[in-house]
Amino acid sequence: MQLLKLASVTAITLYSLYAYPCFGQVSGPSLKTAFQQDFLIGTALNGRQISERNEKETQLIIREYNAITPENVMKSGPIHPEPNLFNFEASDRYVAFGVKHGMYIVGHTLIWHSQLPSYVQHIRNADSLSHFMKGHIETVAGRYAGKIKSWDVLNEALEEDGSLRKSIFLQLLGEDYIAKAFEWAAQADPGAELYYNDYGIERPEKRKGAIKLIKSLQAKGLRIDGVGIQGHWGLNGNNLYDIENSIIEFSRLGIKVAFTELDISVLPHPSGVTTADISQNYAQDPKMNPYREGLPQAIQMAQAKRYEDIFKIFIKHKEKISRVTFWGAHDGQSWLNGWPIKNRTNYPLLHDRDLMPKPAYTSILNLKTK
Ligand code: XIL
Repeated sequence: MQLLKLASVTAITLYSLYAYPCFGQVSGPSLKTAFQQDFLIGTALNGRQISERNEKETQLIIREYNAITPENVMKSGPIHPEPNLFNFEASDRYVAFGVKHGMYIVGHTLIWHSQLPSYVQHIRNADSLSHFMKGHIETVAGRYAGKIKSWDVLNEALEEDGSLRKSIFLQLLGEDYIAKAFEWAAQADPGAELYYNDYGIERPEKRKGAIKLIKSLQAKGLRIDGVGIQGHWGLNGNNLYDIENSIIEFSRLGIKVAFTELDISVLPHPSGVTTADISQNYAQDPKMNPYREGLPQAIQMAQAKRYEDIFKIFIKHKEKISRVTFWGAHDGQSWLNGWPIKNRTNYPLLHDRDLMPKPAYTSILNLKTK
């Protein structure tokens, strides 16, 4: 048993040494260089990372990634906390980070039913909501016009069965709010690419809804440049076929496909179904947090294989894919430590809590460098 343990620790260490011979002053390949000819490789930045508080973290981000998405600071709640008040401090810093490091800067997200300012949640009439939407889009997208390369204009507007989500926007404004969001975004920042972003739209039922939504924008003559498949997935590999088909079907609409929030949870999901609905919340339970003390080698390797399988599909369809963004730079940062159950220890990303590359990192890199 001891020997086995030693062997697995050695295997992980060798993996890390192979990828990062001397962490901190590495000159070997990085994700962004390895995939340079294929698609952008992005990460989500939290407030601390935007402020560059930790030099090692900053170095990791700029070494590996050439695209960034704000994890929270551009959502309407934080950026537009009162009807006539915008808080641009963090978002300005985020954009400055991207400009300084020559990165592709993504805006996330203009219209979303979650993380709304509380005054919007209390709006009860169409005119006020439409006024909020227009002013919000004009002000936020307008401020960063020319700097933000692509906007997630609309986030998660679909239910799991592919019908339109019964959000406050749909209830008060009817489905025309979707066209309005894209119309106002195009006006506010004519140079930015405009995306529809959602989770679970690789699944056939919900995918149908997304295709319908995209076609209805196109039928109205509105611009939509791409679709973002979030990619909050688990270890179960039975969605590979869906992932591949969704790339093919979405790109047939003449738009780009991006994977915008990729992470692979290794923990059980209480409902059994993996969604990314942030309103879900379940009670804490030690059984649901099995890897507090560390990730078993077998799971570590299963995750590496899962990432490898997914990236094989991405590479096969690289001309249809604009960007693959991970939802964070290392396991310690991941939202999946707190959702859908608080205080768990999850391991969904490519670098561990010490910022060292995991087998998942190496398995992806090896697809390009071996
Ligand atoms: C998550 C953030 O990572 C968390 O920090 C926050 O508490 C909730 O939102 N889909 C999205 C992302 O589009 O914006 C969400 O990000 C994850 C699900």
